[in-house]
Amino acid sequence: MKILVTGGAGYIGSITSVQLIGAGYEPVIVDNFCNASPKVLDRIEQIAGRRPTLYAGDIRDHALLDRIFAEHKIEAVIHFAALKAVGESVAKPLEYYENNLGGTFVLLEAMRAAGVKNFVFSSSATVYGDPASVPIREDFPTRATNPYGWTKLMMEQVLTDFQHATPDWSVTLLRYFNPVGAHPSGLMGEDPQGIPNNLMPYLAQVAVGRREYLSVYGSDYPTPDGTGVRDYIHVMDLADGHIAALKARQGRAGVHVFNLGTGHGNSVLEMVAAFGRAVGRELPYKLVDRRPGDIAECWADPAYAERELGWRATRSLDDMTRDTWNWQSKNPNGYQDA
Ligand code: NAD
Ligand code: WQD
Repeated sequence: MKILVTGGAGYIGSITSVQLIGAGYEPVIVDNFCNASPKVLDRIEQIAGRRPTLYAGDIRDHALLDRIFAEHKIEAVIHFAALKAVGESVAKPLEYYENNLGGTFVLLEAMRAAGVKNFVFSSSATVYGDPASVPIREDFPTRATNPYGWTKLMMEQVLTDFQHATPDWSVTLLRYFNPVGAHPSGLMGEDPQGIPNNLMPYLAQVAVGRREYLSVYGSDYPTPDGTGVRDYIHVMDLADGHIAALKARQGRAGVHVFNLGTGHGNSVLEMVAAFGRAVGRELPYKLVDRRPGDIAECWADPAYAERELGWRATRSLDDMTRDTWNWQSKNPNGYQDA
């Protein structure tokens, strides 16, 4: 069964493609490589024993998308392709709205024309804004605090309206918490361009000597140790969550919303200590001011996904740090080393 994976060369999309092949699906990838390396395809083949069909191009290209749907009998689409850096989205809002919204519109039009009606969307816990309480359930109020977050929230609205207008569609909105980790082989992982925005890739670059120390953004939050608390989820668990969602929701009309998180929060200092254990030495850090826009704590209530999808995250924090370190130490410069 063929699944179109947009953004399938990216961090989460590539590892999901490996897991899709393992589960008997045939991923067809479209990616413009604006934030990925073509070498990812070799790694997918190396691990999964099969090279996915690749369309190197932009999802805003109508003709390309029509061609993909004409050339393959696609059963469902998993839509990862998006720009995702919060800070950059504040500086370049038009690019973010244009890419993330515009790309999704073209994709939906091409799907409608081809009669493909199963859609899985990469949403984010960012749509909960600063939650009034934790753990966060899917029915909590949503709001956005930056253009990136708005693109996710707006797409959720667009997809919901569209599903209501075409009620035989299955639209699944997956709200990821904080994806971290790498494929356990050490062959695939997160490979940010420039200075990493996110905690784990930054820590990994400190560990490998590309950065001097980690700046811990804020130590005066109302949390047990004063640093921010997040729900870090292993990217392999996240990938498996997509497959569970596909299996459970494909062909089931409606809008289905799921948190993909572990249900546990860890502080920045806990993450630094855990990563130090994986590396075998303490990692240098400095406590600095809060990062504007950050919240104190955020973790999922994953009960609904567990009940409805029969899926839950099983990998531990030590699995996350071990696999991140395995990837980063074998590939200090990411896919450039491939
Ligand atoms: P990523 O940047 O590694 O992957 C996105 C991929 O999409 C990249 O390979 C990029 O080249 C491609 N792409 C972007 N715009 C495109 C376009 N117009 N046409 C074709 N390809 C395009 O990011 P990721 O971490 O793998 O995230 C995947 C999805 O999950 C994104 O939608 C992101 O917003 C969402 N998400 C990510 C996180 C996270 O922390 N990583 C958290 C929540 C949600
Ligand atoms: C985690 C914790 C920081 C870097 C972001 C997006 C969100 C989603 C996931 C896409 C926080 C602290 C970080 C550093 C630090 N992405 N930190 N020093 O902010 O929870 O979520 O990525 O949808 O939308 O906002 O993740 O990894 O940036 O931060 O102290 O150098 O680590 O303050 O407490 P965040 P993060």
